[in-house]
Amino acid sequence: MTPEPRARQPHTHEAGSPGELDPRAPSRPGRRGLLLAGTAGAGALGVGAAAVGRERALRGSGPTSGPADQAEAPLHGEATLPFHGEHQAGVGTPAQASSSYLALDLREEVDRAGIIRMLRLLTDDAARLTQGRPALADTEPELATAPARLTVTFGFGRGLLERAQVEVPAWLGPLPAFEIDELQEELCGGDLLLQVAADDPLTVSHAARMLLKDSRAFTTVRWVQQGFRRAHGTERPGVTQRNLFGQVDGSANPQLDSSHFDTVVWIDEGPFAGGTSMVIRRIRMDLDGWDEADPAAREQSTGTKLSNGAPLSGQEEGDHADFEARSEHGFPLIPEFAHMRRARGVDEGVHDEIFRRPYNYEDPPAPGSGALSESGQIFTSFQADLEGQFIPIQQRLSDLDLLNMWTTPIGSAVFAIPPGCAEGEFVGQSVIGD
Ligand code: HEM
Repeated sequence: MTPEPRARQPHTHEAGSPGELDPRAPSRPGRRGLLLAGTAGAGALGVGAAAVGRERALRGSGPTSGPADQAEAPLHGEATLPFHGEHQAGVGTPAQASSSYLALDLREEVDRAGIIRMLRLLTDDAARLTQGRPALADTEPELATAPARLTVTFGFGRGLLERAQVEVPAWLGPLPAFEIDELQEELCGGDLLLQVAADDPLTVSHAARMLLKDSRAFTTVRWVQQGFRRAHGTERPGVTQRNLFGQVDGSANPQLDSSHFDTVVWIDEGPFAGGTSMVIRRIRMDLDGWDEADPAAREQSTGTKLSNGAPLSGQEEGDHADFEARSEHGFPLIPEFAHMRRARGVDEGVHDEIFRRPYNYEDPPAPGSGALSESGQIFTSFQADLEGQFIPIQQRLSDLDLLNMWTTPIGSAVFAIPPGCAEGEFVGQSVIGD
């Protein structure tokens, strides 16, 4: 990837934050927009007059507010994102609050014709559910009426493309083994991935169950992972999310809706043109160990400030990271083992980039383990060139990264994300044919 000027998010915005980009808004807000939002109302964020009215109604502060206003106020649950288009939704979509990842394996008897039947069925389900309409055989149609920015993103594993008898991209398969990996087979691989995300967990649950029921004749469930971020409306739109270590995580992502994002993420030729590659890694985070790390170690592990995500060489989250800057004792302010320095590849003279869209997970601890939680990150990244972008980054991080002291990859899979489809087509039709 051609080195480009640093693409850290300006100020405190993260491309993937819930609600950052209202689908109706022409572009992402600037700092001024956010300041205005804090004082003059959400109009500056492109949320629109209706939403401002809703805010007033909910606060009960307007002179005319009352039960009638509240009944008429638009609900975030009604918000929809387009299903059809050049790219599948759920990649360049500002990240929703909840996401489920369903990895399925084809049943032995399912052939190419079966795959096409299944994809037609699941595409129809996804097209309906994302628009707030029940799936055809919806057993709980009442649950389909609050899509809350629901997206369903399809990813193909090597197994599915082989069975469909189409050319498989050379890069599609398990990642090379990395020294830091402690992978559990039951959290790896899969023939078909469905990423189901929305700003409401009940919506995600219902959509996921409908899709699973309709795929049951064709597939078995290999693994399911469920992730969360802040609930919609908890933070100002555009604030970069924090992970379970409390770190601002996502600052250096390419900005959504930019030509740079397009270059980093979308494949531009061949059957997957308009699609991308997706890596999903389940990474356990040792929160108990992290509790023992002092603030300096915590900041040096990534090279960023805990307070606001600024690089240790700067003051604000959007500041340019100065990898040459040194302390009064002559040590680099962003240490050589810092995650951001290693991820970026500055010491190798490169600037590799990917688009990260991570979610947190938290499971109950194993009974009797004495642990307080079983937590971590469902790391997902999207990149046009898996081998040229993701793998060198992951290799460098495996070789050296202080963050590895507290993180362990335990699951891993790669999927080819086909482009979006037009109405009447199924997802993957341009790859598989019909
Ligand atoms: C639980 C695991 C991880 C945690 C907690 C974590 C956390 C962070 C944090 C706090 C930052 C700095 C802020 C930002 O720019 O987002 C960062 C940056 C970054 N991380 Fe991670 N990360 C994890 C795993 C990974 C993995 C597996 C990769 C890729 C293989 C990766 C690639 C990157 C990249 C490319 C950057 C931006 C570097 C830059 O150009 O400044 N991270 N990560």
